[in-house]
Amino acid sequence: MRLDKFLSESSIGRRKEVRIFIKDGKVKVNSEIVIIPAYEIDEENDRIEYLDEDVEHNGKMYYMFHKPFGCITARKDSKHQTVMDYFECEDTKGLFPVGRLDKDTEGLLFLTNDGEFNHQLMYPDQHVKKTYYFWAFGTLDDEQINKLENGIVIRDGEPLTKPAKIEILKTGLFRDLQHELKDIHYEKIKINPQEQSVLEGHITISEGRKHQVRRMLKAAGCYVVYLKRISIGEIILDETLQKGQYREMTREEVTRLKNGG
Ligand code: URA
Repeated sequence: MRLDKFLSESSIGRRKEVRIFIKDGKVKVNSEIVIIPAYEIDEENDRIEYLDEDVEHNGKMYYMFHKPFGCITARKDSKHQTVMDYFECEDTKGLFPVGRLDKDTEGLLFLTNDGEFNHQLMYPDQHVKKTYYFWAFGTLDDEQINKLENGIVIRDGEPLTKPAKIEILKTGLFRDLQHELKDIHYEKIKINPQEQSVLEGHITISEGRKHQVRRMLKAAGCYVVYLKRISIGEIILDETLQKGQYREMTREEVTRLKNGG
């Protein structure tokens, strides 16, 4: 296997980055500095060090992606841009998104080639908490908040939603708060919003039903106009990532998620 591939599959950095580390003399193979990224190693028997620390090869890739509005969470699509279109070709081999965000939803999405990791986060019994930031038209009184938090019917025949947490950050009229709603896509709004009540908030859920947040808020009489996932378990979207950017996840982040959040 090539040395740069080995390092990029070992959470040292992206292919591009590890090539620089190699050329900078930070990598040793069997105690000798090697500065050729394409150098062939025997991954079973050679000892690889980065900054004088042994590198463990697990071949697994984990990325944190800031999904922008308008692309779909799929590997391929004949009509729409997908989340994979934001990844450089060499980084995408075997990668798939963990769960999904709607086309119109922004925010935190993980991509990996580790099926076990995907299972741990997505399996309904795992109850991993996901927090979303939203703006919605409408108002929520105590009774509606109580329903949202303790279980609400989002479609006839479906079970009540599992316990959730709502935090209202701001309420008011659209015309007064409009300047704060920068990321709304107005082409989707069919009514004149000026006199509408709006609310800004966080909602934390531990399920992953289709359009769940939009449907929960709709069931409580609100219409979501902006939705962004800001955390999964204890991992918060890295706000240094601009929309459409991604980065390798750190070992600590992956371990925390594998240990239940
Ligand atoms: N809930 C939604 O309604 N949409 C998403 O993309 C994620 C959660």
